[in-house]
Amino acid sequence: MNVLVTGGAGYIGSHTCLELLESGYGVVVIDNLCNSNPKSLERVEELTGKTLKFYQGDVRDEALLTKIFAENDIGCVIHFAGLKAVGESVAKPWEYYDNNLNTTLVLTKVMKQVGMKNLIFSSSATVYTADNEMPLKETSRTGGCTNPYGWTKYMTEQILSGISHADEDWSVVLLRYFNPIGAHKSGRIGEDPRGIPNNLMPYITQTAIGRREKLSVYGNDYPTHDGTGVRDYIHVVDLAKGHVAAVKYAVENRGCEVFNLGTGVGYSVLDMVNTFMEVNGVNIPYVITDRRPGDIATCYADPAKSREILHWQAGETLADMCRDSWNWQKQNPQGFEG
Ligand code: NAD
Ligand code: UFG
Repeated sequence: MNVLVTGGAGYIGSHTCLELLESGYGVVVIDNLCNSNPKSLERVEELTGKTLKFYQGDVRDEALLTKIFAENDIGCVIHFAGLKAVGESVAKPWEYYDNNLNTTLVLTKVMKQVGMKNLIFSSSATVYTADNEMPLKETSRTGGCTNPYGWTKYMTEQILSGISHADEDWSVVLLRYFNPIGAHKSGRIGEDPRGIPNNLMPYITQTAIGRREKLSVYGNDYPTHDGTGVRDYIHVVDLAKGHVAAVKYAVENRGCEVFNLGTGVGYSVLDMVNTFMEVNGVNIPYVITDRRPGDIATCYADPAKSREILHWQAGETLADMCRDSWNWQKQNPQGFEG
């Protein structure tokens, strides 16, 4: 069976293409490369010894999507394509609503026209309200997002659940990711953010390689074990394997289901820094600064539903994640262009 992967050249997409190929699926990618490098896909082919089909273009291009479905026998779509920088979404709300909502609307329009209605969507733990009890279950409260990026994920969930409610032929799987980090064990593919990283792990690895002077730890007065923010970090390869499990589920079931993809364990910023230094034998200079606006103290998943229904569970440890992130950065000091 062929899987169409939108945004397949990106960080999570490239790791998922690799796992799909390793699991025997055919892979077709559409990506406009607005936040990625086509080398990621060349390396996926190198690593697997298999080929995939790549269309460079925008998911909002209805004619191109129609052509892709005509030229390939697609059995399921994984929809990663979207813009993902929280801060940028506050400065450029129109661009975020346009890209993140219209990709889904055009994609589902074409899927409906061709009668292929199995869809997996990249949602986020950001859809949960800040006042929930931890761990977060799929039934925890959602909404009340604090930025346009979060709203696009929330709204897309509403759009897709509405579509599947109205037409029982649809099978929609909404995957809420927690904090993906790490890289493929080979160090050949990994996260390659443009400009100054917003997220913790790429900031740590770029500090370790000397591209950044020091890490700012955003606040040490949270109600957590050491005062710094706690998150559920998940290895990107575990996350990719979660998508392979979701494809199987999507083609065998109908309706709309939500799953958390997290480990169920929370680590603080200082846990991350200390583990990274310890397992890799490098120093990470850091300073404690003010809290970052919009951050919450603690966020981690209850992954029981994914374990029970998708038969999927994260297996990599925090040490593995730190080692693999560093292995990727060391081998690719300037990312794919390095
Ligand atoms: P990424 O930026 O590396 O990958 C997204 C890919 O989509 C990029 O290759 C980009 O070029 C492509 N793209 C964007 N808009 C497009 C369009 N209109 N048409 C075609 N291609 C387009 O990001 P990622 O970290 O791999 O994230 C993948 C998905 O997972 C995104 O939807 C993101 O919002 C979601 N997500 C990511 C995280 C995270 O922390 N990385 C957490 C939760 C959810
Ligand atoms: N942090 C620092 N210094 C940094 C970067 C981050 O101390 O330079 C801290 C943050 O304050 C937070 C933790 O590290 O406590 C993790 O921050 P990230 O920016 O890596 O991740 P977030 O949990 O803030 O956000 C991520 C994704 C969002 C998504 C959200 C919820 O980046 O897209 O998870 O799923 F919306």
